[in-house]
Amino acid sequence: MNHRAEFPILETKVGKRPLVYLDNAATTHKPQCVLDAERRYYEQQNSNIHRGAHYLSRLATEAHEQARETAADFLHAASSREIIFTAGCTAGINLVASVLGLSGLVKAGDEILVTTDAHHSNIVPWQMLSERTGAILRPIPLTEALTFDREAYQRLLGPATRLVAIPYVSNALGIINPVQEIIADARTNRPDTLVLIDGAQSTAHMPVDVQALGCDFYAFSGHKVYGPTGTGVLWGREELLNQLPPWQGGGEMISEVTFAKTTYNGLPFKYEAGTPNIAGNIVLAEALRYVRKIGLSAIETHEQELTRRMYNGLESIGGIRILGPREKRGALISITVPHVHHYDLGTLLDQMGVAVRTGHHCCQPFMQSLGITGTTRYSFALYNTAEDVDRALECTARALEMLR
Ligand code: ALA
Repeated sequence: MNHRAEFPILETKVGKRPLVYLDNAATTHKPQCVLDAERRYYEQQNSNIHRGAHYLSRLATEAHEQARETAADFLHAASSREIIFTAGCTAGINLVASVLGLSGLVKAGDEILVTTDAHHSNIVPWQMLSERTGAILRPIPLTEALTFDREAYQRLLGPATRLVAIPYVSNALGIINPVQEIIADARTNRPDTLVLIDGAQSTAHMPVDVQALGCDFYAFSGHKVYGPTGTGVLWGREELLNQLPPWQGGGEMISEVTFAKTTYNGLPFKYEAGTPNIAGNIVLAEALRYVRKIGLSAIETHEQELTRRMYNGLESIGGIRILGPREKRGALISITVPHVHHYDLGTLLDQMGVAVRTGHHCCQPFMQSLGITGTTRYSFALYNTAEDVDRALECTARALEMLR
């Protein structure tokens, strides 16, 4: 697989060195077709949607609702009514936490389980919900090998468990969580336990079928799937979303407004107050079509090969701690090196043209549990190549020689 030429930004030189971009878990670059779709929207379709009585408004409305169909197909949702456009994964999780708080479905004493290595965006909204409702947030520990600890999870589950919020792939460690088992265990105990999957690090890297998973909510960000920043999708089960109250008021979320009482629109508009990110959502759909054309299974195989090559290469450099399992890992690798600060390693790699991310990766509780302040993370996308991996390995070895 070699799609590098479709991404103009990958021609960038850092100083005189060609860019090797391995910060894809933070954001992905955009292929030419996505860049063209953005320009096309503003040149040919730009208009506000839904209530315009004119040609351009009809064009934009049609393209926007077609984008919803594309997102529904992409996740294999039962209906496009289950697709709520958001500003990103964080916004989707916050929406769920807020409406669950308003709904009264989460009460004092209810328990919310999250993984220790969850992203702050999948911890803090539940903490805020717990503060408002008197619910209790409980972290699920990891095994010593830094994998999902199913036994510890099963011990935590009980009649008080109301919600389990899990990253499909964890962003700091790259663990692929056994979400189907996690969901089955949650429901064995209490059939109405809700399960939210944070899809930030899975959606661009493996096929996802929300109906087969059987979760209640699934959220992802557009910019991590080759789409624009400020876009995202929250998928929720229609029956459940119908039971939940509206959130923000205004725009397309109303049915009728009087000063005495407002009645609300149905799904998905109930959760899309104000003018949506029309251009963003339409361009996101272009990105999703691009990914589907290449095929998520092919992307998964390609990225798995790159990740394995990187893992083996890091092992042969020696003196590096690779966090998490060798197998069942998403398209990213986090490392620590004794006596080497992650920031120094990242800075030297940058000088050699290799872009990685260093720090806590928005997972401070997990870093605290390991007694570290951060890691150096290499993360892959469909446009990375074996040459990228080899250059990153060569530069890592050289940087560590200087730093050790
Ligand atoms: N959540 C993004 C990351 O893991 C920013 O890098």
